[in-house]
Amino acid sequence: MALRSGENMQLTCEYLKEPLGVQNPKPRFAWRVNGEWENTVQVSYRVHVWRGEQEVWDSGEVFSNRSCAVEYDGLPLAGRQRYRWQVQVSLRRWSEPEPCARLQGESCFETGLLDAAAWQGSWIQMPCAQQGVSTLVRKTFTVADLPKLARIYISGLGYFEAYLNGKKIGSSVLDPGWTDYRKTVLYRCFDVTALLEKGENVLAVELGEGWYGHRHEGMKKLVNRYPAWLGTPRLLCKVALDDTCFSTGADGSWLCSAGAVRENSIYDGELYDARLEKAGWRDRGYRPQPQEWSPAVEAGAPAGRLVCQLMPSIEVVRELKPAYLAYTEDEDYKLVADFGENIAGWVQIRVKGSAGGSVTLRYGEVLNADGTVNQKNLRYARATDTYILGEQEAAVYHPRFTYHGFRYVQIEMTAGVMIEEVRAHCVHTAVKRASAFDCDNELLNKIYDAMLRTEQNNLHSVPTDCPQRDERLGWINDMTVRFEEGLYNFDMALFYEKWLNDLADAQDPDTGAIPDTAPYFFGDLPASHISSVLVLLPWFYYQFYGDLQPLRRHYEAMKKYVAFKASQRDGAGLIIDRFCGEWAPPMTQALLMRGVDALPANIPAPIITTGYLYYDYYIMEKAAGVLGLPEEAACFAAEKEQVKEAVNRAYLNREEGCYGTNVQACNIFPLFLDIVPPDQKERVLRNLLLNIVDENQYHTTTGNQMTKYLYELLNREGLDDIAYRLAGQTTYPSLGFMLENGATTIWERWENLTGNYMNSHDHPMLGAFTIWFLKALGGIRDESGLAVGGIELRPSVPEGLNRVTAAYETTRGTVRCSWKKEADRLLMTVQVPWNAEARVRVPDGYACAGGERTLLMGPGCCEVFLTRE
Ligand code: BGC
Repeated sequence: MALRSGENMQLTCEYLKEPLGVQNPKPRFAWRVNGEWENTVQVSYRVHVWRGEQEVWDSGEVFSNRSCAVEYDGLPLAGRQRYRWQVQVSLRRWSEPEPCARLQGESCFETGLLDAAAWQGSWIQMPCAQQGVSTLVRKTFTVADLPKLARIYISGLGYFEAYLNGKKIGSSVLDPGWTDYRKTVLYRCFDVTALLEKGENVLAVELGEGWYGHRHEGMKKLVNRYPAWLGTPRLLCKVALDDTCFSTGADGSWLCSAGAVRENSIYDGELYDARLEKAGWRDRGYRPQPQEWSPAVEAGAPAGRLVCQLMPSIEVVRELKPAYLAYTEDEDYKLVADFGENIAGWVQIRVKGSAGGSVTLRYGEVLNADGTVNQKNLRYARATDTYILGEQEAAVYHPRFTYHGFRYVQIEMTAGVMIEEVRAHCVHTAVKRASAFDCDNELLNKIYDAMLRTEQNNLHSVPTDCPQRDERLGWINDMTVRFEEGLYNFDMALFYEKWLNDLADAQDPDTGAIPDTAPYFFGDLPASHISSVLVLLPWFYYQFYGDLQPLRRHYEAMKKYVAFKASQRDGAGLIIDRFCGEWAPPMTQALLMRGVDALPANIPAPIITTGYLYYDYYIMEKAAGVLGLPEEAACFAAEKEQVKEAVNRAYLNREEGCYGTNVQACNIFPLFLDIVPPDQKERVLRNLLLNIVDENQYHTTTGNQMTKYLYELLNREGLDDIAYRLAGQTTYPSLGFMLENGATTIWERWENLTGNYMNSHDHPMLGAFTIWFLKALGGIRDESGLAVGGIELRPSVPEGLNRVTAAYETTRGTVRCSWKKEADRLLMTVQVPWNAEARVRVPDGYACAGGERTLLMGPGCCEVFLTRE
């Protein structure tokens, strides 16, 4: 059979098309087929990799349908090299055994700087850097002949922006990603071939404080310490022009000066004084004045290992015009812009006026009664940018070393200053969407949109809790329930891989304990014992991406963490302390006047903490299984049983058929974990339903953890009619209530609060359950073979909902499941991606003509009519 070369194939290495800076010794290859051969499945594959003319790997023909996370297994990869790779696949029609086509695709990847020595340079900094003032670094160099390949490897802490000959290198902002710089420092690798010119070239870099220089006084007040990695802005960079390289060093050729950014802080914002601009400093032909520029000095190297940042960078993803713009009534004459939705990012203004005039931008999520911006819930974050006009006629300004969470901005101008244009830039890690959802209940569609927005607003190289106040941290307890929502809605492979490394960096190597946040400087160590994301995420990663590398890499850390948690049990086998969850339940369920009224009043902590230990063992057992460690799996299974017994012994009330205080969370977790003895299960479930339906008229009383598990449980028990009524609720407490009260993103609290304490309006955790839309209504379930191509679709069709479309982008292509009620029948349309097959369960209450309860479908689109039973 002829081998066809392929425009029909999409190839990725390390989840990227032709990546630069690959540092993984076993990069992962993946491919997809589209176009003419989209409706086939793979019989076998063969991967070849070359460096120049030398073949460094030939996988041989592998008879397997694996088309993602195929690990390189050839000669050791060398640093800063270009590798060419090719995959050949043989394909067959799904219904026929014999191959029908052979396709071939080709791509390449480049390795990064594999160790510190490869940089051949040192970190540099400004001789006397001033806190908050940006550092400008400038270097000129001459190019006689334009190189074929030019690369720049660069890391500037806290944030850098780099320019070559006046043009910005790359489209990212707020680079590099945040890490614990004592453990890991990220660098970027850019292709700058097209930016070079013959003759003089100038590389210009501006450095801001970022998290590296985060000396924020709020931190002192809140946690009484600064981050342990704190330092002043510094730069490391290596330029490679074919085989000629130069790097940063205190050799006199790298010049530094102070920038026009006079204050910059992630929480507080930026102060930019255009009068202090050094016009043209990034361009060729600029002549630095010795009184303004001085040679860079060597800076200490941060202790962290240098790792190339492959995850999507933070970008200006969207621009918004104000939906409403008005002057406030008071005599100060302030302009307030409403962008119509809560976003993360900044405002860009076009402004005119004379030098020394200024514009102040105050950001906020809500308004005061008088129409001004309310910043109370930002706590110690000032979230204010100030622009002081220079000599130019007109200027365009937005900050670059900060970001804010806001829907409104209040613009204050000094006399004579005119604002010509106001725009909001949505700024976040530019992950690609992976899901789609639409149904005939507009409220559910709006909730889904609000969830997507909230998730995106909270991706800034770390999955943050909120984008606006003095936190913006990777809270591990929130992530324990939220990560799965991220996996469903966005392509998180590289982002989560990076954050798992942050988690591992945050682990105490001696005890195995992890802190409350990663990267860590806020919250406690050990974390609240509900922080199982370190165990859960590598497993779910495998479910979504078919990739075992993170699981393998973190298996020991997972084991250690679980052993630590187990060691925290008391004589009765229960974990009593540290417990901050079921955080932020409705205040009617909270311990009032304690902390921030977010601790649940009626839930014995060990049901949740010890319950999580059970969940950990359950996952560890599976993980050990797939890693080929059956003895370890057996140990985890035995431990799991003991934990189950301990919880049941202490909290199962056999007389009443309930756990603990019989509030929702107490019964949800044991049911979700499936640890309820079989003879009690029906009664516990009945008690839970009585609580939801009779006592709370279809409302949840749960907080950040159990809401999600409730929906999972209802789905598993065939109770999606109840889940649907809960999801569509519009009275307090519910997401519908938030939306009816003007929310465009999910709030941190079920209540509508605007005061001076914990009430972010952009907090993903309470919306984590919305994956029920995709999992239950769309039937697309992660644990059912998404990554291995044997997908099980199990849509539910609740009373009152007439139409659903749900889709998810698998590693093989899009899986889509739609259904529509028509008189007495149901029309189902299923799209199965290339190289997959789907087992579609006929929804309860419907039947198909042949009487089957499960339909098997190959790649392509298929329609089925089902009749009402
Ligand atoms: C964070 C929460 C987190 C909580 C735990 C808060 O400040 O924003 O999302 O779960 O602290 O203590």
